[in-house]
Amino acid sequence: MVEKGSEWVVMATGRSPTNIAVIKYWGKRDENLILPINDSISLTLDPLHLSATTTAAVSPSFTRDRMWLNGKEISLSGERYQKCLREIRRRANEVSDAEKGIVIKKEDWERLHVHISSYNNFPTAAGLASSAAGFACLVFTLAKLMNLKDDLGQISSIARQGSGSACRSLYGGFVKWAMGNNTDGSDSLAIQLAEETHWTDLVIIIAVVSSKQKETSSTSGMRESVQTSALIKHRAETVVPARTLKMEEAITNRDFASFAKLTCADSNQFHAVCLDTSPPIFYMNDTSHRIINLVEKWNISEGTPQVAYTFDAGPNAVLVSPNRKTAALLLQRLLFHFPPNKDINLTSFVVGDKTILQDAG
Ligand code: DP6
Repeated sequence: MVEKGSEWVVMATGRSPTNIAVIKYWGKRDENLILPINDSISLTLDPLHLSATTTAAVSPSFTRDRMWLNGKEISLSGERYQKCLREIRRRANEVSDAEKGIVIKKEDWERLHVHISSYNNFPTAAGLASSAAGFACLVFTLAKLMNLKDDLGQISSIARQGSGSACRSLYGGFVKWAMGNNTDGSDSLAIQLAEETHWTDLVIIIAVVSSKQKETSSTSGMRESVQTSALIKHRAETVVPARTLKMEEAITNRDFASFAKLTCADSNQFHAVCLDTSPPIFYMNDTSHRIINLVEKWNISEGTPQVAYTFDAGPNAVLVSPNRKTAALLLQRLLFHFPPNKDINLTSFVVGDKTILQDAG
């Protein structure tokens, strides 16, 4: 390694939006490699209100790997962090900065340490997929810092080992996580179905019903479902493969009616699997159920879907409307039934761009 002094620091900063699954990932066939039992499809959100921003730095003066999340130091000793770090170091390449007179050789990455600082602009573990944006950003930023030559798909398969749903946040727009067939997980990665510019009319409204940390994490919830639910097998083997094809078609054709029907049906089946788990897992609450009722009644009265709803591992509703006009009507209805700051808080989004390099120094 050529260096002017030992005081130098090389940094990279990335930003990852979160993503919302419209065909849910629920259940692993390999816990260690995080390989799912079915394909899933998601929308990447614009990063305005729900994203992670991560800066990774390397310096010979660092004596160990360290990470801070929202300003507080966290341990990197967990297996998921370690796997991501190992895999990125293994694929690292030479980095040179002529201005600073620094050359970091491929083999230097094994002994150099990194400091990582990450910020989420939304409540962690509030059922709003914070781990998705977090791991996507961590892996992407370290990959930039260490000059990985791999394409985004390959980078997504590293992020998958941090948290499954994270792999979908590497791409913008409409993204599929292909479950893959290989036992080593090499083909279990994200694929972009359509860019964010493909369907720009969609407006996504998130109704935060509770920002409390969920009682059952996705990781343990899906493990219990795989162990005890009979419905999950039927869902993964029969329902999702057909539904995924239909969803891809609906997205390609910007067919909102089909998109909405499939999205609601998949959310409901995911929560049915949670109920079919022993002991049952309740992610939704009364307010979530009232939101479903409101949307279902509206859709039935119009004869065609006006709005789609989907709920992850928590009570918060993600509502997708086909255009701004319907989004405005939806907001009106939500505010009428749920007065502001009482039961829910509302934020709106559009389909957003991929994980980006924000700045490098
Ligand atoms: C309900 O990706 O958080 O949001 O892979 O164990 O980290 P791990 O789980 P995670 O699960 C997300 C589950 C979901 C559905 C989805 O995003 O597809």
